[in-house]
Order: sequence, then structure tokens, then C-alpha cells
Amino acid sequence: MLKNKTFLVTGSSSGIGETIADFLLKNDAKVIGISRKKNNFKNLKKFFHIKIDLSDPFNAFEKVKQIITNFKEIDGLISNAGTGDFRSLENFSSNQIGKFISLNLTSHILITRALLPHFKKNKNGSIIYIGSESALKAKKYGSLYSACKFGLRGFSKSIRDECSNNNIKVTIINPGMVKTSFFQNLDFSHGDKEGEFIETSDIGKIVLDILNQRQGLVVDEINLSPLKKVIKFGKKK
Ligand SMILES: NC(=O)c1ccc[n+]([C@@H]2O[C@H](COP(=O)([O-])OP(=O)(O)OC[C@H]3O[C@@H](n4cnc5c(N)ncnc54)[C@H](OP(=O)(O)O)[C@@H]3O)[C@@H](O)[C@H]2O)c1
Repeated sequence: MLKNKTFLVTGSSSGIGETIADFLLKNDAKVIGISRKKNNFKNLKKFFHIKIDLSDPFNAFEKVKQIITNFKEIDGLISNAGTGDFRSLENFSSNQIGKFISLNLTSHILITRALLPHFKKNKNGSIIYIGSESALKAKKYGSLYSACKFGLRGFSKSIRDECSNNNIKVTIINPGMVKTSFFQNLDFSHGDKEGEFIETSDIGKIVLDILNQRQGLVVDEINLSPLKKVIKFGKKK
């Protein structure tokens, strides 16, 4: 079902986005990957990397419009790029707050805004947002991250409702802790034992499953968590 379809995957250079891009390529889809760094996919005939810094979402909006002109057919968006930063609100400068929200919320909105006319014209399109368990429950030090993920979840649900008459299917996946480089610069992480983290392949498989559903069915939202919720703390705040 995915053969020769084209998907835009943001944050395709590592972690969840890289695995999703890899799974799509292995299913004969074409992938346009957006990130700052490149990756080393073997299937370069079907993978096209576009370097965009999504913390400048207005630039991203113009570049995505250009991508639509160049590629002509885009069947789906996996809106995934993001980072985590967890500390007391007063420890962020106003500039850091602006950049964080630009990447983790505004870029998702503007890329969707750029693609919607294309999907509506084709009366076809699949959008999958990578949300978070922080879109469901807010905890201390996660004010900005939760603001973005709660916002993304609300946005996703509204767009899902707005676009169903145009055959556009919208899903949000809310994972708990996934084993990726997300935690590299954070002072906490998931546990190391089996059952204490989600694998990126778990999400890759679910994305394929969502995209392979019959046209008349939408998976609105999926929440995922490791069997055991273990948080390993490092340095003190
Ligand atoms: N890991 C978890 O536990 C977890 C749980 C729930 C939700 N999530 C969400 O999953 C998504 C992916 O995270 P991950 O765990 O896969 O982390 P990751 O391995 O660090 O990947 C993050 C991706 O986002 C891209 N990115 C970051 N800043 C960017 C920028 N300014 N411009 C363009 N691309 C940028 C990175 O590419 P470049 O650095 O090359 O630009 C990379 O491809 C995020 O939205 C995150 O909030 C993660």
C-alpha cells in the first residue's frame, strides 16, 4: 500500500524519525527527510534529504512550499522533529523560550499549513504527529515541553476534525520514554532493562500499521509506554 508513495518525515536524522524513515523506505515508499544533519540511508534512490533548521519555522514554511513544487506528489507527513529541555521556567531566557516553542510547536503547525492545500487538492493525505506522554500529563520542570505537546495534541485533534471531509487522516502518537539520543543532554533517562523503555522500532511498526489502515478508518490517537515506568536521574537541578 505504501509503494511509491511519498512521505515528508521531520527529524529524520536520528531516533524515532530515522526509524520511521527507514521503515517507510523498506516498504518501497519515497522519503523526504528534514533535519539539520544528514543520515546514511543505503536506499538513496528513494531518500531525499532537505536541510532545514526547524527552530526557524517561517523559513521552514517557505522551504516546504518549495518541496511541494519540486516533488509534486506528497502523500503524507510524519511530523516528528523535536527536542526536550526540562528545567524551572525562570531558568529559560525569553529567547530560549521562543526557540523552543518554534521548534516543538510552531514548526509542526506551519509545515501542516504548508501541506494542507496540497492534501486538500488531492483529496488525500495522512498526517502523523509524534506527541508525548507529556501531552497527557504535565510534571514539574516540563512546563515548556508540556505546553508544546499539549498544544500539538489539541492542534492534531482540531485538524483531524477539520480535514476529514477532504479524506485527510490525522493521528497523534504519544510515547513514553523511547530509547533515543533525546536524553543525551538531559539529567534523566529511561531505565536500561528490557521493559523500561520503548524501542524506536515499536513506533515504526505502529506508523506502518496506521498508514496501512483502510481509507475509511482513522486512528485518532495512540498512547504508548514501557511496561515499567522507571526514571533514572543523573545530575541534580
Ligand atoms: N525519546 C523519547 O523518550 C520521546 C518520548 C516522547 C516523544 N518524543 C518525541 O519524539 C520526537 C523525536 O525525538 P527522538 O526521541 O527521536 O529524539 P532524537 O533522536 O534526538 O531526534 C530528534 C530529531 O529532531 C531533529 N531536530 C532537532 N532539532 C531540530 C531543528 N532545530 N531543526 C530540524 N530538525 C531538528 C533532529 O535532527 P538534527 O539534529 O539533525 O536537526 C533529529 O532528527 C520529538 O518530537 C520528541 O519530543 C520522544
